[in-house]
Amino acid sequence: MNKTEKYRTAFRMIQSVVEGESDMIANMANMAALLHEAFGFWWTGFYRINPESDQLVLGPFQGPVACTRINFGKGVCGTAWERAETVIVPDVHQFPGHIACSSASNSEIVIPVFQGNKVIAVLDIDSTEFNTFDQIDKEWLEKIVSLIR
Ligand code: SME
Repeated sequence: MNKTEKYRTAFRMIQSVVEGESDMIANMANMAALLHEAFGFWWTGFYRINPESDQLVLGPFQGPVACTRINFGKGVCGTAWERAETVIVPDVHQFPGHIACSSASNSEIVIPVFQGNKVIAVLDIDSTEFNTFDQIDKEWLEKIVSLIR
């Protein structure tokens, strides 16, 4: 199966798991689990915006222990939040301000999750390989997170 076929299958599975469930945390948890297992990523999970502290706070994830809070504009996650757009990082060691939760991570993609036109969370995926993520990942992962409401 090529990447597009894998995403097509994953999308269908995620769709069937989240439809009919309104709890956002439950849906984020299953999305992280499904993507993590289907693609064998190093770390797959969500950070949710905490309006009180105006920070990203760790949400449902799969993979090793991660940092719990990220400020607006900081790291790849904070940058995706600030820009309100997907950020693809082919080599995290070249990204100024990258937050290394794990030294095994070499490339990363962060997708904002919108409610209306407001970013409410980000989906962060880390890979131990360089150059893992491209426009195909961006397109499908944006489609997948749009299932969160
Ligand atoms: N690398 C991220 C931090 C989160 S961990 O990778 C799970 C960043 O720079 O925002």
